[in-house]
Amino acid sequence: MATKSNTDKVDEVRKAAERLHSEARTADQLMESITVLLNEQMLKYNWVGFYMLEPGANPPMLVLGHYRGAMTPHDRIPLNQGICGAAASTGKTVVVDDVKKDPRYLACSLETKSEIVVPVFVRGTVAGELDIDSHFLAAFADEDRELIEYCAQLVGKRLESA
Ligand code: SME
Repeated sequence: MATKSNTDKVDEVRKAAERLHSEARTADQLMESITVLLNEQMLKYNWVGFYMLEPGANPPMLVLGHYRGAMTPHDRIPLNQGICGAAASTGKTVVVDDVKKDPRYLACSLETKSEIVVPVFVRGTVAGELDIDSHFLAAFADEDRELIEYCAQLVGKRLESA
C-alpha cells in the first residue's frame, strides 16, 4: 500500500478535527479528543497537549491540561518562561526547528528535537495554547502549522460558546 503524503494526511486529520468539533459536547472533551487525534494520527507529533491560563492568577500562569505523550515536569509555566510562555505572551505561533538552539526551551523529554506552540484565542484574547513536541528535527512544515492552528481555532470557538 502506498504511504499517504503529509498533505493528504493533514487534510484527513483536518476533516477528523472538524467532525470532533461538531460532536464534542464540551470544550474539555474537544481538547481531549484533539490531543488523541493528533498524537495517534500524525506520526511525528510525539507529545501533544494543551496549557490553559489559570483564571485570575497573578502573575499569569499556564497550567497543563489534556495531553498525550510522556509525563512532563512542566505542569505550570509562567509567561516569562519557555517556548510556551513566549507563544502565550505574544499571542503568536512559535515554531522551533531545533530546540537545542533555542535558549527559551524548557526540556520536557531528551528525545524532543522540535516544537510548535499555537495560542488558543477566546474572543480575541489568549486563553491557552496547543503545544506539540517531535522527536524529529524541523517536524512542523507550513501545512502542519495550518493544521495545528486550525485545531486551536476550533477549541477557541468551542470555549466561546461555553
Ligand atoms: N518545551 C516547553 C515546555 C513544555 S513541554 O514541551 C511539554 C517550553 O519550552 O515551554
